[in-house]
Order: sequence, then C-alpha cells, then structure tokens
Amino acid sequence: MPDRIPGPETSPEGELPGARGELSQGVLDALRGPTGGPAPQPREARDADPFGDDLQLALYLCYELHYRGFRGIDAAWEWDPGLLGLRAALERRFLEALRERTAGHLDVHDALDELLVEPVDGTGVSYFLKDEGQLWQLREYAAQRSLYHLKEADPHAWVIPRLRGRAKAAFVAVEFDEFGGGRAERVHARLFADLMADLGLDTTYGRYVDAASAEMLAVVNLMSLLGLHRAHRGALVGHFATVEVTSSPGSRRLAEAMRRTGAGPAAEHFYAEHVTADAVHEQIVRRDVIGGLLADEPSLAPDIAFGIAATTWLEDRLGDRLLAAWRSGSTSLRAQL
Ligand SMILES: [Fe+2]
Ligand SMILES: [Fe+2]
Repeated sequence: MPDRIPGPETSPEGELPGARGELSQGVLDALRGPTGGPAPQPREARDADPFGDDLQLALYLCYELHYRGFRGIDAAWEWDPGLLGLRAALERRFLEALRERTAGHLDVHDALDELLVEPVDGTGVSYFLKDEGQLWQLREYAAQRSLYHLKEADPHAWVIPRLRGRAKAAFVAVEFDEFGGGRAERVHARLFADLMADLGLDTTYGRYVDAASAEMLAVVNLMSLLGLHRAHRGALVGHFATVEVTSSPGSRRLAEAMRRTGAGPAAEHFYAEHVTADAVHEQIVRRDVIGGLLADEPSLAPDIAFGIAATTWLEDRLGDRLLAAWRSGSTSLRAQL
C-alpha cells in the first residue's frame, strides 16, 4: 500500500479554546503570559464543581501542555510549578468525586467480567447510532470523540516505563497496533482523522474542544490523569482494559451506523478495524496485561478495579448526555458544527 502521508492535517499544536468560567479563564490568561506569571491559586479549585465545564476545561488545558501544547504558547508552561500546583488541586477534586461515585466497586475480576456483559436492552449510544442514528448525530459523536481519538493511545503510553515483564510486553504489543504497527497511515489517530474527513469535519487538532461537553472533557481528563501519575498505574491499566474489552462489540455497531448512513469508506473503516483488532486486544489485555500486572504487583488490584469503575461511570455519563440531547432532537454540543 503506498504511503499516503500527509493525510488530513491534524496540525502539530492546538488552538486555545474559550473559557468556561473563572478557573479556565485564569489558566488561559496565565498561558498567554510568560511562564512564572500568576496562575489561579490551588484554593480556587476547592469549591468548583468537579465534573463541571470550568474545572474540566482548566484541567484539560493543563494536560494538553503534556501532549501537543498550544500554538504561540511557551512549551515551558508544561513544568511551571505554579500551574502544576493548580493542576494538583484540580486533580484532587476530580479524583475525590470519582472515588465517591464509584465507592464499593467490585473486585477486579468481577469488574472485568461485568464489562463483558452486553446490556440486554441495548440502550447505549452505539445501539442508538446503529438503529436510528442520523448523519448529524454521527458527526457530533465524532467531533466529541476527536478530543481523544486524535491522540488515541497517547495517554496510555505514559505507563510503559512503570510496567515490567509480561505486563509490559503485552501492553506494548497492543500499543504497537494502536500506533499503526510501523505504518503512519495505519496509526489509529490517523484513521480517525480520515473518518472525520469523510464526515466533513475539520481534522485540525483541538478544533472541537469548544464544542465538546464537560462530560467528554472528563472522559479524556481521566486518561491523562491516570497516565501522568505513576501512583495511578494500576488504574490506568484498568482504564485501558475497559476500553479494549468494550470496544469490539461497540465498534461493530458504529461501523454499521456508518454503513447505513453512507458516511463513507474511511468512516466505516475506523470502526471495522477496531472490531477485529480489539477482539484480539481484549484477550491480550485480560490475560497478560492485567494478569501480568497482578502477578507482579498484587496490591494494585483495588486500583485496577477503580480504573475500570471510574471509566465506566464517566462513559455512562457521557452516553446519557448524548442520548438525552439527541432524543429531544437537540445538539449534544456546546456550539453548532
Ligand atoms: Fe485503536
Ligand atoms: Fe485496541
């Protein structure tokens, strides 16, 4: 297959989005100035809604500095002590709220088994899109998800130096596929950009942050949080497992939705690729990543279970938001496409 690079432009850096409240405004103001300048104080995060637009966007801005950063913004902000102090306070608030919501979660094996049970009534987003999704809803879904898929597998890569032996080898085998197996045109982030192009969406990195709901920001922020902290390596692996285990059947329904609506070959291909790849990934993740990590560090079992529970809780919340909007005929986005 000839190399099709360059494909749809995803741009090396993002653009700064608009503020959603005082915290995010404070971070944006700080970033536009020199490093070491005033950033919001950690105590300002204390009373913020942990799942609200303002805190989630402030956290998202802090995390993006570790990925591709923002055009015209000094890359040194990534390690600015003042901003890191704020980030820690935002993370604490978010994590505490997640622990509260997922209290009493299951043992890691029960949690994994539970993931494999497909809902009988089939009421999730992928069911909706398969059965009755319209093109405008598929475009909204892709715009929201682009916050993750244009950096697909990146947050997970941070855990690699924190794993050993069997867990590490298996984890990297899965990531190798996510990153295209040595082929730029097969990198999953690139396949997603191709999907976006089919749907007539702008593939510029970060283009839809302003449109994305707080629920989507929270989904991505969880991955970044878990990826960046060695202390949360167990939860990051739990997160990874959740994505891989649930992906294959969901992707089958989404591929069907793309086919039924005539979204285009690349749009269908992105999900069709995940049906096959993730059926294999699921096995590797269960047996060797989770199994390997538990053999290596048995004390991480509750963290793995927390990662699974937190991911599921946030994904369900995003699904509820999307379906509530669509069932009432309105947009799930904060701004029209
Ligand atoms: Fe993937
Ligand atoms: Fe995968």
